[in-house]
Amino acid sequence: MLPVARTLPELHAALLGARSVGLVPTMGYLHAGHATLIEQARRENSLVVVSVFVNPLQFGAGEDLSRYPRDLERDRALALSAGADLIFHPDTDHMYPAGFSSSVSVGAVAQALEGASRPGHFGGVATVVLKLLNMVGADGRSADRAYFGEKDWQQLMVVRQMVRDLNHATQIVGVPTVRVHDGAAAGLALSSRNSYLSAEQLVRAAVLSRALRAVQAAYAAGETDVAALLQAGHRILESESELTLDYLSLVDEHLQPVQTLTAAAEVALSISEQPRALATPH
Ligand code: PAJ
Repeated sequence: MLPVARTLPELHAALLGARSVGLVPTMGYLHAGHATLIEQARRENSLVVVSVFVNPLQFGAGEDLSRYPRDLERDRALALSAGADLIFHPDTDHMYPAGFSSSVSVGAVAQALEGASRPGHFGGVATVVLKLLNMVGADGRSADRAYFGEKDWQQLMVVRQMVRDLNHATQIVGVPTVRVHDGAAAGLALSSRNSYLSAEQLVRAAVLSRALRAVQAAYAAGETDVAALLQAGHRILESESELTLDYLSLVDEHLQPVQTLTAAAEVALSISEQPRALATPH
C-alpha cells in the first residue's frame, strides 16, 4: 500500500535525502488524467509525491466543496500503479491553522474567463499551490518539479505567472489533456467532476471537445480570421440547445482575446447547464 503522510514532519521524514522530488498537486478522486501527470513525474524525478487536498480556499460560496468526490483508498491504488512513492494528504487545519491570513494574488491572468465567473478562485489555487511547492521538497528545498494538466490551461498560466514573478525555484511542467477514447462521450476531457454527470449529460458535455476540434479543423484548413474560427465552434455548440455558453474565445498567454491570430493562441471554452453544472474546470 502506498504510504500517506498527513503532516509536514511525516512528509519531510519520507523525503529525507531524495535526489529530486516531483510533485503532482490534486484534489483526489484520481483518474487516468491524473495518472499521466504521475507517470511523467516518475520518469523525471527520483521521488514522486501526489498531494490529495480538497482546497476550501478555491471554492466560492454555493460551489461544490462539501460534495466534492473523495475516495482516498482508491486514490492510493491508482497513484501507486502510476508510479507515485507517497501521498501527502493534510487536514484542512494543518494547511490553514487558526490565524492563517496570507494569500497570493496573481493579477490579470487570474481575472479573465474562469476567474471572472469564479471570483477568488485562482487566488485560492495560487495560495495552496505555493504552499505545496514549499512544503513538498527534500531537505528544506522546495519541490524540484511540479506537474499540471493543460486541461486547466488558465490554471497552468496562473501558476507559471506566480512562479516567474516570485522567483520560485520549482520547475512547472504542463502535461497534455487525457480524453475519453471512444463511445458516445468520446473526446470529453476526464475530470473528477464528471462523476456528477449522468450518462446522457456526459454525452452532451462532449460537445465541448467537438467545438474545440471544429475550431482547430478550420485553422488547419487555412482559416485565419478570428471571427470565422470562432463561428466554426459556435455552429457545433448550437446543436446542443440545453447548454448555455459561458465563453468561447481565442486568447493569448495572458488570457486576453486576440484580434489577429498568433501561433500561441489558445481556444478557451466553457459551457454549463442550468443550474451551472457542466465544465467548471475547477
Ligand atoms: P484536480 O482537479 O484534482 O487536478 C489535478 C491536476 O490534474 C491538475 O493539474 C489538472 O489540470 C490535472 N488534470 C485533471 N484532469 C486532467 C486530464 N483529463 N488530463 C490531464 N490533466 C488533467 O486542479 C486541481 O485539482 C486543483 O486546482 C489543484 C491544482 C490541486 C490546487 O488545489
